[in-house]
Amino acid sequence: MDEPAVVRIFDTTLRDGEQSPGATLNIDEKLEIARQLARLGVDVIEAGFPIASPGDFEAVRRVADEVGRGDDAPIIAGLARANQADIDRAWQAVKGARRPRIHTFLATSDIHLKYKLKISREECLARAAEMVAYARGLCEDVEFSPEDGGRSDPEFLYQVLEAAIKAGATTLNIPDTVGYTTPQEFGALIAGIREHVPGARDVILSAHCHNDLGLATANTLAAIANGARQVEVTVNGIGERAGNTSLEEVVMALYTRPTVYGLRTHIDTTQIARASRLVSAYTGIPVQPNKAIVGANAFAHEAGIHQDGVLKNPLTYEIMRPETIGITESKLVLGKHSGRHAFQTKLAELGYDLNPEDMNRVFERFKDLCDKKKVVSDPDIEAIINDEVYQPVELWRLEHVQVSCGTSMRPTATVTLRGPDGIVREDAAVGAGPVDSVYMAINRIVQAPNVLTEFSINAVTEGIDAVGEVTIRIEGTNGAHGRHYALNPQFGLRQRTYSGHGADTDIIVASAKAYMSALNKMLSARKEEVGG
Ligand code: KIV
Ligand code: ZN
Repeated sequence: MDEPAVVRIFDTTLRDGEQSPGATLNIDEKLEIARQLARLGVDVIEAGFPIASPGDFEAVRRVADEVGRGDDAPIIAGLARANQADIDRAWQAVKGARRPRIHTFLATSDIHLKYKLKISREECLARAAEMVAYARGLCEDVEFSPEDGGRSDPEFLYQVLEAAIKAGATTLNIPDTVGYTTPQEFGALIAGIREHVPGARDVILSAHCHNDLGLATANTLAAIANGARQVEVTVNGIGERAGNTSLEEVVMALYTRPTVYGLRTHIDTTQIARASRLVSAYTGIPVQPNKAIVGANAFAHEAGIHQDGVLKNPLTYEIMRPETIGITESKLVLGKHSGRHAFQTKLAELGYDLNPEDMNRVFERFKDLCDKKKVVSDPDIEAIINDEVYQPVELWRLEHVQVSCGTSMRPTATVTLRGPDGIVREDAAVGAGPVDSVYMAINRIVQAPNVLTEFSINAVTEGIDAVGEVTIRIEGTNGAHGRHYALNPQFGLRQRTYSGHGADTDIIVASAKAYMSALNKMLSARKEEVGG
């Protein structure tokens, strides 16, 4: 029997995904995620938008050089608007990869042509052809995307796509940029392109769907059913506004329903859970509990009838096994008497492979926690790892925090921080509550104006001794412009959001750590933005 045909997975977590508010990633975090994407087996990593900032350029260049070099390395793509400066910059960033790709885009819908680009259809057609040819002069692998393809006049879209093929595009990606289409419409659009655009059957057709109506996965599957053989996706479905099509949903739909699609991917599904955790930890965007495939409840059975059925035979209520996506049932219960070997075995079971330095720090934290809790659960360990390992570069370090508060006194905090220059500074402040007083004392030292836009606290496990995990978001207030918006002056200058997380059995300490994590992220991002 013939092998089923392959659908290529183009992952844009590091580009479209990073455009989610608050998802700002630094270069090391991008590299770590890119390594996991390579382990996952994606065919293409879109590593960023190199012209957006020196930091974006450097991240794409390093992903190309460090993850894109091996024999089996994925293609590394860099995004560029359809102009020479963007394309040159993208090429400089990706050219170190074994298989580089330039992904250039130009809007084709009348709305975008009239109000955003202020050009005619003729100018659009000419520019698309000229810039694809220019990119092709630099790189053999060129992808062209007609932005807002889902709302473009199909007849005009066909003309632009034909011109792009003639100019040398090797992949044509059709974006439903604003998540407007329905599965029937989007499937028909792909079928129409295959039928009406000369040469469309000789290039790869790709789908890039946004989730504004919650239809991104359905639209992507409809595109596949109509001949798309590349799909653009993100881990956990993060991305602009309501996000992009989620990688795990499309991959597991193809995997679970082979008789419907008869297609396969190159993805190692057992790496999905780990990729999901990593992306969530680094972006600070939690996965909703009922999220398909990777949500905490995706394999949880609550109703008695369901539990009874699953115990008799998992097939009664489970269409996928948790092991298939890399969730293994834990056999080891850890506590005070567990040694390093048991701890390492547990980490391997959970899918972590830490370097010796991180391992030492995490093990020390685990031992501390054992003094406070009898049984340390898997979520406790994951919270420690998130807190110790998945953190931004520590420009400012929290050395000490102390708070006095109660019914008859004003909450007062004293904090001690070590600065980037190695000098230890101490200050104190009175606030509206204990957390407020800590944040005010930190502000007095760090002097990085910002607004706290979100604060959430979550007990990792049940019980009074639970570890508390705090996630916060802050927005810079003195000129940290959102670069994706800054590229397009019509949106005005918008501030970027930075997330931070911290975990501790003491929630005030967890809150202080979360704030330091967000501040460090903001300050490092500013350094990267200016190429520092
Ligand atoms: O949504 C979109 O149109 C995009 C393009 C740049 C492919 O992200
Ligand atoms: Zn997009």
